[in-house]
Amino acid sequence: MTKNIVILISGGGSNMAAIVNEANSGRWAERFGARVAAVISNKEEAEGLAFARERGIATEVVKHRDFASREAFDAALSEVIDRHQPALVVLAGFMRILTAGFVAHYAGRLINIHPSLLPAFPGLDTHQRAIDAGCKVAGATVHQVTADLDLGPILAQAAVPVMPGDTPQSLAARVLTQEHVLYPRAVEAFLATSVTA
Ligand code: GAR
Repeated sequence: MTKNIVILISGGGSNMAAIVNEANSGRWAERFGARVAAVISNKEEAEGLAFARERGIATEVVKHRDFASREAFDAALSEVIDRHQPALVVLAGFMRILTAGFVAHYAGRLINIHPSLLPAFPGLDTHQRAIDAGCKVAGATVHQVTADLDLGPILAQAAVPVMPGDTPQSLAARVLTQEHVLYPRAVEAFLATSVTA
């Protein structure tokens, strides 16, 4: 059975694009029987949706604003995700806090990338906080998602230097470049070790 990967995005989708590109160039279909089956966004204006559509990947939008509670949104989101029978759900710049029920439903097959060297700086404004703290290195972390925000078991990390004069934007750009290498590699490692879905 094909190992379907479902990727959730909220915006630019550059990590999603890096994973889709690596799936193609790394021949994930042949090597792991895996494919990116769908890209789902909570925002219809997410730029990454066009990239996915152009590559013939199914796209879906589930707008969180249409739901009265986190539970109702997560239930609708799960329903859409599960239509694609995912072996792996990849959060790639998906900017929603997920309920414990959602996380439990995907236990062991839900991963996220966070733009800091976790457990430092979970949550928002990571780059500003790293600069304010005087950090000399920053980076990104791929981790399994658990009910504790940004604190699941770490799968992979990449570090970059913080340079004198860095702004949150310049640091974010340097980290993002590394995310594009790190995240596809971490997904590939997951596929290489996971049992057939
Ligand atoms: C990435 O830097 C990712 O690590 C971060 O959002 C950006 C999304 O960029 N994620 C988080 O902050 C999650 N808390 P992208 O849409 O171009 O992949």
